[in-house]
Formats: sequence, C-alpha cells, structure tokens
Amino acid sequence: MKRSIILVVCAMSWLFVANTHAAISYQPHKRVHNKIDASEDKETVFVTSLMQKMTLAEKIGQLSQYVGGELLTGPQSDALSDSLFVHGMVGSILNVGGVEKLRKLQEKNMQLSRLKIPILFAFDVIHGYKTIFPTPLAESCSWDLNLMYETAKAAAVEASASGIHWTFAPMVDIARDPRWGRIVEGAGEDTYLACKIADARVRGFQWNLGAPNSVYACAKHFVAYGAPQAGRDYAPVDLSLSTLAEVYLPPFKACVDAGVKTFMSAFNSVNGVPATGNRWLMTDVLRNKWQFNGFVVSDWNAVQELKAHGVAETDKDAALLAFNAGVDMNMTDGLYNRCLEEAVHRGQVDMQAIDAAVERILRAKYALGLFDNPYRFLDAKRECREVRSANITALARKAASSSMVLLKNDHNMLPLSKQTKRIALIGPLANNRSEVMGSWKARGDEKDVVTVLEGIKNKLGNNVTVTYVQGCDFLKPSTQEFSAAFEAAQQSDVVIAVVGEKALMSGESRSRAILRLPGQQEALLDTLKKAGKPLVVVLMNGRPLCLEKIDKQADALLEAWFPGTQCGNAVADILFGDVTPSAKLTASFPLTEGQIPNYYNYKRSGRPGDMPYSSTARHIDVPNKNLYPFGYGLSYTSFAYGKMQCASQFDADGVLQVAVDVTNKGNVDGEEIVQLYVADKVASMVRPVKELKGFKKVFIPKGDTKHVEFTLHARDLGFWDNNMQYIVEPGTFTIMVGANSEDLQQQDVVWDGKEKQ
Ligand code: NOJ
Repeated sequence: MKRSIILVVCAMSWLFVANTHAAISYQPHKRVHNKIDASEDKETVFVTSLMQKMTLAEKIGQLSQYVGGELLTGPQSDALSDSLFVHGMVGSILNVGGVEKLRKLQEKNMQLSRLKIPILFAFDVIHGYKTIFPTPLAESCSWDLNLMYETAKAAAVEASASGIHWTFAPMVDIARDPRWGRIVEGAGEDTYLACKIADARVRGFQWNLGAPNSVYACAKHFVAYGAPQAGRDYAPVDLSLSTLAEVYLPPFKACVDAGVKTFMSAFNSVNGVPATGNRWLMTDVLRNKWQFNGFVVSDWNAVQELKAHGVAETDKDAALLAFNAGVDMNMTDGLYNRCLEEAVHRGQVDMQAIDAAVERILRAKYALGLFDNPYRFLDAKRECREVRSANITALARKAASSSMVLLKNDHNMLPLSKQTKRIALIGPLANNRSEVMGSWKARGDEKDVVTVLEGIKNKLGNNVTVTYVQGCDFLKPSTQEFSAAFEAAQQSDVVIAVVGEKALMSGESRSRAILRLPGQQEALLDTLKKAGKPLVVVLMNGRPLCLEKIDKQADALLEAWFPGTQCGNAVADILFGDVTPSAKLTASFPLTEGQIPNYYNYKRSGRPGDMPYSSTARHIDVPNKNLYPFGYGLSYTSFAYGKMQCASQFDADGVLQVAVDVTNKGNVDGEEIVQLYVADKVASMVRPVKELKGFKKVFIPKGDTKHVEFTLHARDLGFWDNNMQYIVEPGTFTIMVGANSEDLQQQDVVWDGKEKQ
C-alpha cells in the first residue's frame, strides 16, 4: 500500500490558458499566453460592429463549411451555389487549392454576398502541399522535433502561397493498433513523444500566424479516434477514463498549449457518446478546463452522422446536439444552415452561444487580415515562387532519409558500395511515382516525384547497370514477371526489392486485418531469394506490417515508409551511405496480427511473464514480444552505452538527474536516439510496465563519446485515475536508459514525496 497520495496541479494541468503565438524559430514547450493588445481591441470593435449588421441566417452561414470543388463545378454549381453565396451561407470552403480557383470562389462571394465577409479556405495539408514530405508516422520516427517543425512550416509556406488559410493537421491521435489505417497520419503509439511532436507541428504550421505565409493548424480528431474496436476506422471507442486522460487527451492538450487555432471533432463515439455530440468533451474539457479559445469544426458529415450513431432522430436533432455540445462549424452536410435558425427561434439554441461561435470565426478571419484584403493570400506570383522552392525540395529529401528505419543489416550489407556494377531493382514500388507520396498527397504531382530507379541513377550515373523489373502488382494475382525478375537477380551483384502497400491501403477507411505484404509480393521475394544474391528489401507502407517471413528472407531491411516527392534520392542516400540511418520506430511491429494491440507500454498483470506453457498473460501459440520493438532502429555504426549514472533518490526539489555516456564505436559518424523510460514499482492503480519519459537525439562523430543527460521531475511520474484526477505518489521508481524500449539498463530510485514548496 502507498503511504500517501498527493494530488497536484501539474504540468499537464487543464487549468492553463493558451492563446495566439507567432514564433519564427522552433521554441518547444513555451506555453502560449493570452495577450490583449491594441490591435486586438480594434479587432473587437470591428467584429462587434459587423455582428450587429448580421442577420441570424448570415451568422449561421459563418458556421458552415462546404466542399469547394462542388461549389465550382459539381452538383452545387451555378444557381444553387450562387444562392448559398447570395444568402451569406458560406463561412468556409474546403479542399480547393490554387490561387486561380480560390480567387474565383472569393470573387463570387464578394460579388454576391450582402456583407462580403471573406471566406476561410481550408485544405488537408497533412504531410506537404505540393512538395510531399514523408507521412507523419514516418517523420515521427526521426524523433527530430526541429525537422518536424520545419516540414510543417514549409507545408504552410507552400499552402498559404497557394491561397490556403487553414490546414486540417496535425492529427494527434494515439494509435496502438496498426490495423487502423490512420496510424499513418499520427505520431505512433506513445503519448509522451506524440505530445512533443504535436507541439512542433502546431508551431510549424502556425509559425508566423497572421502573415500570409502561415496557416491555422487543427488538432484532430478530438478524441480517441485512434482506438476503434478491432482497428476498424469509425468504430466505437470504449475506454476507461483514466486511459482517456492519460493516453489520448494529452496530445490535444499539448496543441492547446502550443496555441492551436482550431480543433476537429472526431467521427467516433467515446464510451457511448459520439464525440461530435459530446458536450463534456467539447465544452467542459476543451473550452472550460483547457480554456481553448479557437473554434471547433466537425469532421466531414459528422453532424449528420449523429443519426446513424442512433443518438439523433432527425437532421434538426443532430444539428442541435452538435452545436449545443460545442461544435462551432459544420463541415459539409449543411445542417446548421438548414436547422439552427428555427431552433434559435424555438429557444432550443441559445443566441449567445451562436454569437460566441460566430465571433470566434470572424476573429480568425480578422487575424488573417482578410477583412482588409480578402485576396491577401491569393498572389499568383508568390505561388509560382514559393511552391516547390529548392530549399523545400532539399528539406523533403532530408526529412525522407531521416525517417527511414534500418530494421536489419546482416554482415553490414548496407551501405552498398558506389562501385557496385550490376543491380537488379525489383518490385511494384521500385519505379513508382504515385504510391510513394503516401495517403494524403494534397496537390503533390507525380511529375515531381523521384522514383527509386531514378534516385539510384542520379547517385551512380553510368557506372552501374540497373535492371528494373516490376515483378508483380500489389493485388493482381499474376506471377508472369517472376521469371524476368529471377533472371535479373541472377545476373546482378545485389538485388534491391522495393515492396509494400499501395498508398491507399492505409489512411482514412483503410483498416486492414491482414498485415502481411499484399498480393504476390512475398512470393516474389521467395523467387528472388532463390537467385542466391544479397537481397536488400526496401519497404514502403503506411503502418507496421507483420514481417516475420521477410525478416528471414532479407539480408538487409529498410523501412522507408512513404517517403514523398524526394523518395528515390532519399532511398539512394541511405542505400549508398551518404546518409547514415538514424530513425527509430514509434510504433511496435508485431510478429503476427493476433498479438494486436501489442504496444510497448502495456499495463502490468497479475500473471506476468511469457514462458511456454505457463499460466501467464500470453497466447499459447505466439510469444508476447514484437518482432521490432518501439524505439528500435539500427545505424551504419554502433553505439556502446556506459553505465547509467543517477542518484538513489530524487533531490529535495523532486528532481532527478540521469546521465549516460554513449560511444560511437564504428567507422562512420552517426546519430543515436537515447531513450529514458520509467516504471512505478507500486502504485494505487495498475501502471504500465514502462513509459517513455525523455529522449535525446545526439550526433556522435566516429570514435567519440557523448555525455547525455536527462532531468526527471517527480511531478511527471503521476497518473490519471478514473475520476480524471492527476495523482503523484511517492515510492520507488525504476529508471531505465537505453537504445530502445527493450534494450535498457535500469536502476531503482526513491522519491519520498517531501518536495520543497
Ligand atoms: C475526413 C477526415 O476524417 C478528416 O481528417 C479530414 O480533415 C476531413 N475529412 C476533410 O477532408
């Protein structure tokens, strides 16, 4: 039993107030504060006077978002769309990009609407706009916060140059289940790391807030969207409140602290209440406890879907439920426009709540300078100059190689010599332009993509003969090209097989139950193996796959994820040693699907252990361990860890310094991601076997040693109970340091709870 329990208002407290921020360089974790200045006063005067002129219908129009393509050309075109503008029913438009088209829409609005309130343009800029960066899951494996800040910033520069004001990113959903296709869009399975990444990405998108080279970010999908039953996208979520508070809410709180301007409500239900109709989440937690002062948009048709959830009978019920829960803007289904006016007249919706929501949206438009100039982001010359600039292209190449995880490298097969004469390059992704951009390619253009074949040729020029054979498709059963692939392999010095998933096998509504390579690709690798040549397998996929078989076949295995437009150059940089791999996994790779979910920070059980035939928490047919654990990744060099250094107890301020010397023992310079984990030995609730509490990515020249230090605060070792109270308990904690979640040294340390005030 614990001797005492301390409730603290800690760093994760819900009581902090966050507001706007415009940092130019990445400054992590500085909480963004409310500031009222003269310009904000002018804003208030302007917005108040505008609202006095607005009819109720025009106010509700500001709360409505439509699909832009449809307004330009689709079923809503001409008379219908004109009438939407005439009646001031369009507050925002989504997913049209490009100055020319957006100008047309804004002009229509300015010509036809009575009050000429500029439209806010939104777009899914998830991992790049024209220049496509690696997918967010891939990038998270770099553990490089500055890099993720820079890629978000670059995406904002491109998108805003193309007329966009607002991106629906970052997705900060924790994903512990690789069957869930949207794992590709997040930062993996760990909450601590995801919070840091959320911070970097929000600040990156919003790097110069208010200026026309930055965009509003959107924390989505609030909340627990990443925990659907059986990994099926959109399925219900049932969670303990303690897990909700400890695992799923913190990345959203990190976004609020970073000054995120918007939130998106999730499709799913949480413990029986759909998020989009969940007043407790949207109002009690987000607005009242966290003091979020931006606006909330529903996900696509999520308001109308409250009917399918079975919590609303009619469109009107659905609109009422969502609005009264705290969803300010209604994406795509038009229900607010159709239903809220009457509801206000009947007293079912509070006029003050409408005004508050409208005010938030008008303020967001004001802050972008759109009332001064609705075409402020619509500069065709800037679009030409700033989209696909040389700097952004170079950043995309760096981001891609920094995200690739070396999973296996027997006999130091990699890097390959640049003198290699004959390469057999095989596989459906080896010369592919469209799939390698990944699941959200925004306005990425195949013409800008460098394929692996091109990347190798760019690197080695005419010194090498590359024989390319596709070998098979992703899904089609044909094995017709196997013999050509085998022949090419036989005549080569090395075989490079580039295999994986199609881009849209992960992402929204792309859950999979079988996580092996699809189609004939495993059979293709069997065939290549028979050629008896060194086999390098490069994987491109959106989620952890079950790679047990491939791990046995490959001499070297590189998880390249979907690298984006600079795909081929980045793969060649790694394969031929111009870049030393430094990424580590942020989601565990299971042996087989039946183990899922198999995240590293699972809770302890009364019957721990994993011995064959034991009566413990295990399967009788497959061990508990993952094929590749969280935090794992190899380099072209090796790092030796010295003995970890830390006191046997926290100091009087509740602080513990932990240090370790790490030596680069190999022949090349390299970067190592040093990780710190903690386990609470005895607590009043069951705790995880370990939890990440710190990491440092350090560059260590060959032969050198770096002293790596961590500062741990006792207040960060607490947990959330099922009343959603944050509790820190004194006692003994196991502190672990090492190269990944399995390869750790450890020491027990006491915190007596007698912290100086
Ligand atoms: C649905 C997706 O769930 C969401 O992430 C996206 O931002 C919207 N569609 C808009 O395209």
